[in-house]
Amino acid sequence: NRHLLSIDDLSASDIEQIFTTAAEMHDVQKRQVKKLPALRGRTVINLFFEDSTRTRSSFEIAGKWLSADVINLSAKGSSASKGESLRDTVLTVTAMGIDGLVVRHMASGAAEQISRWIDVPVINAGDGTHEHPTQALLDGYTLTRKLGSLEGKHVAIVGDLTHSRVFRSNVKCLTKLGATVTAVAPPTLMPAGVGDWSKAAGFSVSYDLDEVLTGSQGADAVMMLRVQRERMSGGFFPTAREYTVGYGLTRDRLAVLKPGTPILHPGPMNRGLEISADAADAIDSVVLDQVSAGVAVRMSVLYHLLAGEPESNGRATA
Ligand code: CP
Repeated sequence: NRHLLSIDDLSASDIEQIFTTAAEMHDVQKRQVKKLPALRGRTVINLFFEDSTRTRSSFEIAGKWLSADVINLSAKGSSASKGESLRDTVLTVTAMGIDGLVVRHMASGAAEQISRWIDVPVINAGDGTHEHPTQALLDGYTLTRKLGSLEGKHVAIVGDLTHSRVFRSNVKCLTKLGATVTAVAPPTLMPAGVGDWSKAAGFSVSYDLDEVLTGSQGADAVMMLRVQRERMSGGFFPTAREYTVGYGLTRDRLAVLKPGTPILHPGPMNRGLEISADAADAIDSVVLDQVSAGVAVRMSVLYHLLAGEPESNGRATA
């Protein structure tokens, strides 16, 4: 596939291949090798219509360490703020002669729509509440480095699942890797239709975090997701206090985890709401491993999509 729009674009063996290449890229990240020439002469634009710290900067670092020229363009500061349409913006930057487009947008489906307009690889860096495939890949990569094979491992994904593209991509990625996934959220933050969806996709649903953590299977990894207040049109229900009591990874819940249970959070974290400082900074927290893996995994994705001869790009031919 020439794009990465969704984890649906990848088979289990594609994911394993991305992880294998990412492990090789870690040598570059450790600065044993300064740069690889794989994307020399290629130009990648990071087009971000939503704010980002981790994804945008790690795609920039990843592209530069593969010797690509990387340009960052945010909606704030671009002509999108003057009302230029998404299509005109995308066609404009593509006409400059790029080889790849990394895009984040607040609308679900935006990355796929863009891939129909242009003839260069598009990488989805997060589209609304739909998907964030490179986040799921870096999460899966982090977990395999900590736990080995994920076959039969139980991963609890906990939080504001209604608004979470990270959840949607991770369910697909982790189940493809053989993990058992339980989705945990208060009823008000569980996606509508989760019953049918979970049966079709092969994951479990729970409204009781303590039961999931202390039940017969326990959890081999716990992924805490952010309460996304900016995507909530009404008030935040339950209250922040009720949320923490029912669904936060508090100091008390940290104490019931088996030693060595990786604690993940994609960031940015609401410390004191969905995750306590004790958990965020715990010895088993892999939050910064995830950030580090983000560079290696994005190098791997850029390499697999952009290395080799480009089929075509927006450059005018003489
Ligand atoms: N996890 C994640 O996508 O973080 P950013 O919004 O900072 O990129």
